[in-house]
Amino acid sequence: MSKKILLSGIQPSGKPHIGNYFGAMKQFVEMQENHECYFMIVDYHALNTIQDAKVMRQNIVDLATDYLAIGLDPRKSVIFKQSDVSEHTELAWIFDTITTMPYLARAHAYKDAEAKEKEISVGLFNYPMLMAADILLYDADVVPVGADQKQHVEITRDTAQKFNHIYGETFKLPEAKILPDVAVVLGIDGRKMSKSYGNTIPLFAEDSEIEKAVMAIVTDSSGGVPKNVYEIHKLFRSEAELAELYKQHEGKYKALKEALIEDIKAFIRPLREKRKEVADDVGAVLDILKKGGEKAKEKASAKMDAVREKVGVKLY
Ligand code: ADP
Ligand code: TRP
Repeated sequence: MSKKILLSGIQPSGKPHIGNYFGAMKQFVEMQENHECYFMIVDYHALNTIQDAKVMRQNIVDLATDYLAIGLDPRKSVIFKQSDVSEHTELAWIFDTITTMPYLARAHAYKDAEAKEKEISVGLFNYPMLMAADILLYDADVVPVGADQKQHVEITRDTAQKFNHIYGETFKLPEAKILPDVAVVLGIDGRKMSKSYGNTIPLFAEDSEIEKAVMAIVTDSSGGVPKNVYEIHKLFRSEAELAELYKQHEGKYKALKEALIEDIKAFIRPLREKRKEVADDVGAVLDILKKGGEKAKEKASAKMDAVREKVGVKLY
């Protein structure tokens, strides 16, 4: 039986944090053992927020380095950047032509931006169409993501169905894979951990950064268990181990934070060391991305050819 196809992507928009890792990236590593995998750096999506070429270049290299450091393996998986496969933007255009404005106006990311009265680019409004193209070009079966991406995968399914309905069976319907326990990892302020909230524990943090972040976890003074500390601690130890530890140190927030610091340090240290090794050879990282782009292009261009045929623009 052929392997199921897995695809996921992350924007090169800054340092990954443990929320990204436990919510999405850890599954990437585990699932590459028994799936045909495509892992993307979605640089064209990130253009909506990063409009500085130097920063963009650096972020792409950084994210490729992060991918390799957590254990994504170019011998098992295709690791590439979206902009190397022009079929993504091409297919997104075709999806634009079968999607209505009111439908896209219901997307959370757009509604949030509108609620904040931000200036919204057409690119941001259109974000879900590019993401649908990312996924559907590769006939992906599974898309491992955090809970915040659920709606985007639903939009992808709707778009596939709509295209299939108009032009005949073309796209497979993908499933989001969201792990319930870590669907939303909380940050040091108790809100969803997110780069944009400045409440993260970076995945490759130095020891001093870990200490600083944990000491800054907001604790409420009611009850013996500091909830925000516990929520993060759960990522690193079983609930049984924690039950004992938190009973032993009931009400002693400082001791509990210190225990958490030790656990995070032990977890991050090998990842951080591996990342330094990978980062030492930027040439090798770029080579992996370039080759990955070539492989991805092969698959995407075959699919795109079929799409051009279906919509009636392929004449030779
Ligand atoms: P951020 O919100 O920090 O900018 P991204 O949007 O780059 O994160 O998300 C990259 C991946 O990590 C996505 O699959 C997303 O669902 C997942 N993710 C992000 N934050 C969390 C979190 N706090 N808990 C679980 N998964 C998360
Ligand atoms: N929207 C995703 C995020 O912000 C990134 C993304 C773009 C993606 N294309 C994708 C995720 C395709 C999974 C599959 O995190």
